[in-house]
Amino acid sequence: MLALVAAPGLEDGVALQQVEEPRPQSNQALVEVRAVSLNRGECTALRTAEPGWRPGWDLAGVVRAGSADGAGPREGARVVGWVPGGAWAELAAVRADHLAEVPPAVDLEAASTLPVAGLTALGLLALGGDLRGRRGAVTGAAGGVGRFAVQLARAAGAHVTAIVGRPERAAGLRELGADEVVVGGLEPDGEPFDLILESAGGASLAAALARVSATGLVATFGNSSGEPVTFEPRVFYRKGAPTMRGFFVTWELLGGRIGARELDSLCRMVADGRLRVEIDRRASWREAGSVIRALMDRRVAGKAVLTID
Ligand SMILES: NC(=O)c1ccc[n+]([C@@H]2O[C@H](COP(=O)([O-])OP(=O)(O)OC[C@H]3O[C@@H](n4cnc5c(N)ncnc54)[C@H](OP(=O)(O)O)[C@@H]3O)[C@@H](O)[C@H]2O)c1
Repeated sequence: MLALVAAPGLEDGVALQQVEEPRPQSNQALVEVRAVSLNRGECTALRTAEPGWRPGWDLAGVVRAGSADGAGPREGARVVGWVPGGAWAELAAVRADHLAEVPPAVDLEAASTLPVAGLTALGLLALGGDLRGRRGAVTGAAGGVGRFAVQLARAAGAHVTAIVGRPERAAGLRELGADEVVVGGLEPDGEPFDLILESAGGASLAAALARVSATGLVATFGNSSGEPVTFEPRVFYRKGAPTMRGFFVTWELLGGRIGARELDSLCRMVADGRLRVEIDRRASWREAGSVIRALMDRRVAGKAVLTID
């Protein structure tokens, strides 16, 4: 079968190559992949990957063979799923508890955006507890996780501040539920936030630690800037009892704390219009290089999807 693999010598860093077909274990379904979505994490990893490394976490497609143990979607079902690597391929073996059926009202391209970005946003929001009437902030709000997080935070009743890098990146965020949009990064001074979802790293994380409320939470889940952080500890601890914690969706999925049920719930939200999927780039996987470049250059507003054709 064909798959996109790391090709460090080539300009795009990826190439379509013949690889061995996956051999599913008893708890895995074999899925014919029709669409995959790109995530900053796997695109970053591609830059330093060994030749032949197989990227890809998110996929949507059709089950060719259900899992041998009888769990999960059966042959012919339209599904969305997550794998710990190798999704950018014609076939993937997917754990049944990481697969959900896609409702007829949702197309497979939209569904493919949900595993990493959607589950991360959902998992992060769950950390915040009851958000009704509380103040939430989302950094990297124009991106894949960010656009889902803004919507879910608003739906949970929070007052939402979306933080973006440049003015044009603010487009569409109010329509998704942001009450205010801050351009250029969070300032260290200003009204405190009860929940800050932070993925830019560096100065942005330092500012979040300064702006979190006395009992608030900073959830750190990314470092898009690649910068280390320095901060004044007293600004954090002297205000009361704020907390900072990490969140890693891979860890949650592999540990079975998040999976099919949450994917199913995201699919239903999309089907009945409670969650909007914003796909800014769609292309054949034969044009993967240019789409990866656009994502890494912060030119994708929302999600980028490749079709497997
Ligand atoms: N821990 C986890 O489980 C988990 C799961 C998913 C994602 N992540 C991480 O979370 C982050 C967001 O992921 P994503 O897939 O949503 O990425 P994305 O779609 O590329 O969005 C990233 C956003 O971050 C901002 N950004 C990019 N480079 C930046 C920089 N150098 N300095 C400041 N801001 C920058 C951009 O903001 P502007 O567009 O406004 O410039 C962009 O909208 C990534 O770091 C990713 O690796 C972690």
